[in-house]
Amino acid sequence: MRALRVVRGERGRIVDVAGPADQPGGAIVDITHSSLNYKDALAITGRPGVIRADTLIAGIDLVGRRRDTGDRVLVNGCGLGETHDGGLATEAMVPEEWLIPVPARFTEAQAAALGTAGYTAALCVLALGDLAAEDEVVVTGATGGVGSLAIALLRAGGISVAAVSGKANSESGYLRRLGAGSVLDRAELSEPGKPLQSERWAGGIDTVGGPILANLLSQTRYGGTIAACGLAAAPDVHASMMPFILRAVSLVGINSVFTPRPHREAAWYLLDSRIDTGMLDSITTSIGLGDAVATAERMLAGETTGRIVVDVHS
Ligand SMILES: NC(=O)c1ccc[n+]([C@@H]2O[C@H](COP(=O)([O-])OP(=O)(O)OC[C@H]3O[C@@H](n4cnc5c(N)ncnc54)[C@H](OP(=O)(O)O)[C@@H]3O)[C@@H](O)[C@H]2O)c1
Repeated sequence: MRALRVVRGERGRIVDVAGPADQPGGAIVDITHSSLNYKDALAITGRPGVIRADTLIAGIDLVGRRRDTGDRVLVNGCGLGETHDGGLATEAMVPEEWLIPVPARFTEAQAAALGTAGYTAALCVLALGDLAAEDEVVVTGATGGVGSLAIALLRAGGISVAAVSGKANSESGYLRRLGAGSVLDRAELSEPGKPLQSERWAGGIDTVGGPILANLLSQTRYGGTIAACGLAAAPDVHASMMPFILRAVSLVGINSVFTPRPHREAAWYLLDSRIDTGMLDSITTSIGLGDAVATAERMLAGETTGRIVVDVHS
């Protein structure tokens, strides 16, 4: 089998290996596609903090067929590409309980295009609870994988979306096609602001952290929720207590790796019921395993848009 292997602290390299590491009770998956998420980009460019082994096959997503039954299956997270050999390979052996059926409506490439980003976007949307059609929800890191799919999911549910992007000028057409009603320049929210600002948002999905997240909290309406899943801008947040105690604002953390199975299934049900496959194809770039490291560098520089699928056989 071919695989993108990372030795701790080094850039990933393509290697040939005899087969997947044996795992009692595991199922072999013949992988067709993986994807490139921000976390994969960190791992395969040799940044610390993702891969917690001396050497490991990278890739937090996989899609393919179970060798024993032929069923189409996918895995997102669960430790794949962090503590367990991952999906940037042509084969893997994983615990059966990690496998989720690929919804019939999606091809393998489309299931990978959704991947951790889509499933995390769905977890974030579910965390916002009930929203009314006139509500406006803000999404940051809007042109990224999670951001793009969060916009599409919210819009398909009838919710108005304000997209916050560092590419507000160049990618405003892209964001509006996904369903954003307005596009804000990231710079407007990047400086620390007042603890209580005008109430603008019924809720928010934040993929970046730092002062942007603090400002979103300060601009959220009474009772609103911000679902925070990412740290593309900063790993910390210095926020006021005021929005929590005076406006009953909630900050909900999202972790896609250890999500219990019923929540995973609910997220994939939401993706299956709301994602337009034509839209999905239009925001997806397909690359081969050999292009993954160079594309990861561009992703970390904030230069990529939408979703990147890795065809592990090309
Ligand atoms: N908690 C979880 O389980 C979970 C799951 C998936 C992802 N995540 C996290 O969510 C974040 C997004 O992941 P992704 O896969 O969607 O990555 P991505 O495709 O690279 O998108 C990240 C986006 O963030 C924005 N951005 C980049 N650098 C920035 C900076 N310095 N300051 C502010 N914004 C910046 C860019 O969008 P604009 O140019 O449009 O602003 C970029 O497209 C990452 O931090 C990732 O680790 C967490």
